[in-house]
Amino acid sequence: MKICMIGTGYVGLVSGSCFADLGNTVYCVDKDIKKINMLNSFQIPIYEPGLNEIVKKNYLAKRLIFTNNLKKAVISSDIIFICVGTPTSKNNKSADLQFVFKVAKEIASHINKFKIIVTKSTVPVSTGDKIEKIILKRKKRSLFEVASNPEFLREGEAIRDFRFPDRIIVGSDNKKVLRKLESLYEPLIKKGANFFSTNRRGAELIKYASNAFLATKISFINEIANLCEKTGVNVEDVSLGMGLDKRIGGRFLRAGPAYGGSCFPKDTKAITVTGDLYKTNLSIIKSVIKSNSDRKKLLVNRIKSILSNKIKNKKITFLGVTFKPNTDDMRESSSLLLIPYLNNNRAKVYYYDPSGFKKEFSRYKSVYFCDNLSKACNNSDLIIIHTEWDEFKTLDFKKISKNSKIKIFDMRNLYSHKKMKKNGYSYYSIGR
Ligand SMILES: NC(=O)c1ccc[n+]([C@@H]2O[C@H](COP(=O)([O-])OP(=O)(O)OC[C@H]3O[C@@H](n4cnc5c(N)ncnc54)[C@H](O)[C@@H]3O)[C@@H](O)[C@H]2O)c1
Repeated sequence: MKICMIGTGYVGLVSGSCFADLGNTVYCVDKDIKKINMLNSFQIPIYEPGLNEIVKKNYLAKRLIFTNNLKKAVISSDIIFICVGTPTSKNNKSADLQFVFKVAKEIASHINKFKIIVTKSTVPVSTGDKIEKIILKRKKRSLFEVASNPEFLREGEAIRDFRFPDRIIVGSDNKKVLRKLESLYEPLIKKGANFFSTNRRGAELIKYASNAFLATKISFINEIANLCEKTGVNVEDVSLGMGLDKRIGGRFLRAGPAYGGSCFPKDTKAITVTGDLYKTNLSIIKSVIKSNSDRKKLLVNRIKSILSNKIKNKKITFLGVTFKPNTDDMRESSSLLLIPYLNNNRAKVYYYDPSGFKKEFSRYKSVYFCDNLSKACNNSDLIIIHTEWDEFKTLDFKKISKNSKIKIFDMRNLYSHKKMKKNGYSYYSIGR
């Protein structure tokens, strides 16, 4: 099939490359010329394990085309996926749909024969209706169909998630569209992926409900971790004990920092706005948003208490600053609040992240990037394990810090509390 992805970011680039790998011809379009030039010279603009190889292989096979020529891509494709960002609006907490609507207008002006237009971007329920209206102003009804196919891939595991998804959700009332999308996904369905179709609004809401539910699970266990700390219970035992119940399940029950990333924070906010719009108070999700925001303050207080309120001139090392491992995505990471706070209170913050330097911290006077772990930890007063990259899992802290009184705050519970105490470390973790 000939398809086109408009927006070549985390979602458009990964899913476009993987569709090409299934044998389709894929146009990946982006308005960011720098990004397109990079891709055309084999440079991958994002950190995503395994992506490099897939891009190269399919680009060389001429199945994957990177372009900023939206017109040519639309004219050449049967299915057009909208994969642009839907960040939180600057005016309120809703999803900012300006990029989606702009793309809808652009697509409309280039439709020359029947096209299926699919939103992969996460969009509030009824956005498909609005896209349809925009296109109808410019083109006949018989020339297009608008469907929803929300994306569920996780950064850092995106290739695997594309190839082995738990489910593929498609929203459309049109049988021809459903058949076409089912045949696009057939190779994945044959390997066991569930293909679930519903109406367009249903698919749009499934995405938000799923993200809000996962965010709820994380916040739930984070609050239970707070109680564990006060009662001398190990939160990991609670997670395991709860997770063994099949109705609950063990995933997303690991206590840690506040949830972050490009999806949960914005999607939880956006769905509550949609709820309010339809006069439905989504009070659980509103509490989750508050709980997550409180968690960031709670972690600041925890760091202060570990350092006995003496932050000034302390060398504090962050191991990992992204919101999760195997990605370079900094959006809504807890480190974006913690590091500026420590900088403003005159600590010297050194950070090392396997995905490299972060421009987000360059305006802070006392925040320094280190290109290796030892440099970052050398003579540190406090090491904060912020992100669970594999390379942080088996460290000899005394050796790398050269400080026998080193304090360690393990926000990801990577180490055994017992062993760390036995080895004489001042070791702090979450919920145990
Ligand atoms: N990142 C994830 O893990 C993830 C997972 C599931 C769903 N989503 C959803 O997918 C959507 C995209 O997310 P992302 O993380 O890939 O965003 P992103 O910011 O990484 O990429 C969006 C891309 O769209 C491009 N773009 C914007 N307007 C354009 C236009 N008019 N023409 C061409 N290109 C244009 C931008 O230049 C950018 O490269 C969002 O709605 C997000 O919520 C993201």
